Amino acid sequence: MTTLKGNLMFGQSGGPTSVINASAAGVFIEALKHSDVIEKVYGAANGIVGILNEKFYDIGQEDPEELEMLKYTPSSSLGSCRYKLADVNKDDTDYQRLLEVFRKYNIRYFLYNGGNDSMDTCNKISKFLQKSGYECRVMGVPKTIDNDLFGTDHCPGFASAAKYIATTTMEVFLDARVYDTGMICVIEIMGRHAGWLTAATRLACEKGCGPDLIYLPEVPFDINEMITDVTRIYEKNKKVIIAVSEGVQTKDGLFIPELVAGDDVSVDSFGHKQLGGTAVVLADILKKETGAKVRGIELSLMQRCASHCASQTDIDESFLAGQTAVIKAIEGLTDYMIGFERAPGKEYKCDIELIPLNDVANTEKKVPRDWINAAGNFVTEDFVDYALPLIQNETKQQIVDGLPRFANLKKVLV
Ligand code: F6P
Repeated sequence: MTTLKGNLMFGQSGGPTSVINASAAGVFIEALKHSDVIEKVYGAANGIVGILNEKFYDIGQEDPEELEMLKYTPSSSLGSCRYKLADVNKDDTDYQRLLEVFRKYNIRYFLYNGGNDSMDTCNKISKFLQKSGYECRVMGVPKTIDNDLFGTDHCPGFASAAKYIATTTMEVFLDARVYDTGMICVIEIMGRHAGWLTAATRLACEKGCGPDLIYLPEVPFDINEMITDVTRIYEKNKKVIIAVSEGVQTKDGLFIPELVAGDDVSVDSFGHKQLGGTAVVLADILKKETGAKVRGIELSLMQRCASHCASQTDIDESFLAGQTAVIKAIEGLTDYMIGFERAPGKEYKCDIELIPLNDVANTEKKVPRDWINAAGNFVTEDFVDYALPLIQNETKQQIVDGLPRFANLKKVLV
């Protein structure tokens, strides 16, 4: 192992999760222990946008108790971004600027926390720095509620969102059957191209309070088939709960809100369409078709910031991911993302595994087709076996005056 002395830069990128700051805590608390190697610990404001703009915080000036509180604070405390780096062969302006900032502040450790797009960014930066001959150890720290990163058993952030989604589905189930009249509820869940989060509603079925129908983006969505399914259940039970992913697409590749909005859908810098609105559109269609009372419920941001319902297992693993990234980088590793490998056997146990950034970048992991029933409208027991261990253990979040105690960072600019 060769010792590399210098400063560390950490950034958060993409959509937040309720436990993303636990990874930040893991990075900061561990890095600050190694002052013989890592002289300064910086947190980029809004991911690489902050680095490009030379806007970052001196984490060494934070109160250690507040860094600890990050474990229980939702949203990205440093601020996030959705910023796509150009193909370096076509335009290397941003890369040259990053290198300039890295040299100026002697950044020798770069840790980037995010999902698919962010790992692509991390990979591109890593390769550029290598090619430039600038010694810097680069590590990806995984996070995404979508759970779609390649190579890892699961992603930090997923379990807490899944726990909230399953819990809320159970609560909605009870509320949606109080009247002696009929009721249909459509619950819309995030997860752009992968149905892991929507599948989490299946956990509620284990407690007798789950949806009747579950539609994931892994299977083309047929509105007429859905109407037939819903009508059949409604005629029999007078109550129907439908869980649907925001990412379901018709066989022509259209998202549900596009059926009514046409081209009027905003797109981010990665070319992803801003989703949301599926439940309302489907509720409207079902109301017309059945004449029933119908509610469309979009779980929206609540599912990714519900820290009060986080899984402590997820919090601990998110912290571990950040902490391990620092340890491995100090040991001399670079160009990897931290992943989790589940040990075989009945008892839940995960070991850390290192996945080359090249393998992770831009590869999406979907729900296996054989975890979805043949009709494409429900999820099998396999998913329950997979997800149940991940949502175990309750958050140790502090409550003050009946409300959660979140971290309060000074955010001293460098
Ligand atoms: O980060 C993943 C995610 O939460 C997706 O599930 C969702 O489609 C997307 O982010 C929403 O992104 P934004 O908050 O940028 O609209």
